[in-house]
Amino acid sequence: MSDIDEATLDRLRQAALDAAAHAYAPYSKFYVGAALLFEDGAVVTGCNVENVSYGLTSCAERNALFRAISERGAGQKIRAIAVANRNGAASPPCGACRQVMSEFVTADAVVCFPGESGPETRPFREIFPWSFRFEPEDGRR
Ligand code: THU
Repeated sequence: MSDIDEATLDRLRQAALDAAAHAYAPYSKFYVGAALLFEDGAVVTGCNVENVSYGLTSCAERNALFRAISERGAGQKIRAIAVANRNGAASPPCGACRQVMSEFVTADAVVCFPGESGPETRPFREIFPWSFRFEPEDGRR
């Protein structure tokens, strides 16, 4: 499916689980972590951060993404994303996070997440085939 070896994906899954230890989730008590593997081999992680004004909560995946762009710029694409939680539950990335991911992943990027019946590893294009796209008329981004 992807040319990333299973040991590398396992390390990424573990990095996501480690990141979930920092989750700030006093309201849902659902502790999520995400880890992104970039083309140069760098790994950037994030966790969910909730707020008492619930709608301001930010998912682990988007926090990892925004952290990565803030620290590294947007020059490198993401080859793999792992999501984990400390609740032993299924947690595929939410739709909002998939849309944000879509702008920064390689064509053959994979996503690892806990599914309903165990660990899943799926091509990103399979879990988010119709991303919203828009090219500004002046060609700038
Ligand atoms: N959450 C994530 O961090 N990632 C997802 O893909 C879905 C949900 C968080 C948001 C909130 O803090 C908690 O999980 C329960 O929804």
